[in-house]
Amino acid sequence: MGFLIRFGHDPLVNTYLETGRLALRRFTADDADLLIELDSDPAVMRYLTGGRPTAPELVRERQLPNILAGYEKWGGDLGLFAAHEKDGGAFIGWFILRPEPEGPLDEVELGYRLRQAAWGRGYATEGSRALLDKAFTELGVRMVWAETMSVNHASQNIMKKLDMTLTDTLTTPPDMEMIEGSEHGGVRYEITKEQWERQ
Ligand SMILES: CC(C)(COP(=O)(O)OP(=O)(O)OC[C@H]1O[C@@H](n2cnc3c(N)ncnc32)[C@H](O)[C@@H]1OP(=O)(O)O)[C@@H](O)C(=O)NCCC(=O)NCCS
Repeated sequence: MGFLIRFGHDPLVNTYLETGRLALRRFTADDADLLIELDSDPAVMRYLTGGRPTAPELVRERQLPNILAGYEKWGGDLGLFAAHEKDGGAFIGWFILRPEPEGPLDEVELGYRLRQAAWGRGYATEGSRALLDKAFTELGVRMVWAETMSVNHASQNIMKKLDMTLTDTLTTPPDMEMIEGSEHGGVRYEITKEQWERQ
């Protein structure tokens, strides 16, 4: 396996959620470099920006402050969470469980962005499953949704494995930057609390 960034201290500090193999924690103001490195891999960014990395100043000045502000807004229960392997503490990427900025708190988006070295090991499915469980049993969530490009089969496979239902197909808005596969549009999957409980 490729190198993985070591996390400077115990990954279980500030823990949000634990799964069999992963610990999810809240980001801190010291985490800009982890986010910058994650977004510097063109393969990670392929279906997000067409491969272009996120500018480091954007991460430092806008994205990370927004993540931290989200914890204030939602009491630390919702937002973007750093994921680490429990065994060794390597940072593997992040998961998101977050309402729309002005949307209802009981309808939240699920998302994931993992380092390439961590792909193909079931981590995205494992983390997402635990997030759905937490959302529906602890956080009073009624519905979880996720969207991705039609050509992002890995991402869609996770939604299917979570028994989410395809509820909509999306057209790329004309003002949006076109990247490889944009012409095929996107997909939206949803799962309600009732559907989750029936599983
Ligand atoms: C999408 C992503 C999170 C998947 O992470 P992962 O940990 O490799 O996912 P999992 O191992 O849980 O795999 C989920 C399923 O998708 C399948 N899969 C993985 N990569 C695939 C690919 N390129 N094409 C088709 N299926 C794929 C896996 O085989 C698995 O199904 P299986 O268990 O039946 O074999 C990861 O590739 C990533 O971070 N990509 C870059 C960022 C991104 O695109 N995020 C989503 C934006 S909406």
